[in-house]
Amino acid sequence: MSDPKAKKSLSDDSCCQDGKSRRLVIASTIGVSAACALFPFAAGLTSILDPVVRNSGSTAKVPWTRVTSVINLPDDGKPAKFEIILAEVKDAWTTYKNVPVGAVYISRKGDEVIAFNLKCPHLGCAVDYRSKTNDYFCPCHNSTFGLDGSVTDANSPSPRGLDTMHTKIEDKFVWIRFQQYRPNIAEKIPLS
Ligand code: FES
Repeated sequence: MSDPKAKKSLSDDSCCQDGKSRRLVIASTIGVSAACALFPFAAGLTSILDPVVRNSGSTAKVPWTRVTSVINLPDDGKPAKFEIILAEVKDAWTTYKNVPVGAVYISRKGDEVIAFNLKCPHLGCAVDYRSKTNDYFCPCHNSTFGLDGSVTDANSPSPRGLDTMHTKIEDKFVWIRFQQYRPNIAEKIPLS
């Protein structure tokens, strides 16, 4: 004959174990939901903290680089070539000092300066300044550009003019925001 007390106690135990499991399931579900809700925030935080992601695309985030004293530039609009050396370049984990990243032509008329990336917008060859014809020429596929950077020959394969850089004069020095753009397309789209 079975003991009814023992039965009750057994059923109480199974009741409590069921309750415990239910609580465990509910707690796990809440945990997973919270993790899902936090994921987009965490992804956003990563992009804020990662300097590589942070610098992509926007010109406003490109640092100013001091290139040359204004008096080094002739006042007649003739361009001079300068290498661009960034004082500091950071990737996600390392900081590099004095990194050459490219070159520009800068010309000045009075207080106005204009700077072009030396890279041809067609496929990236180095463009030459030709003093005889007072224009720019790319020897790779014969694109020609005027002093204002525009394409001057209808047969030039370059789909756009030379890429202008943001410039300013401060403390008698020329400063540039040096940036590369996607080659061989008509639009000027910054590379990350
Ligand atoms: S790379 Fe300059 S014309 Fe092709």
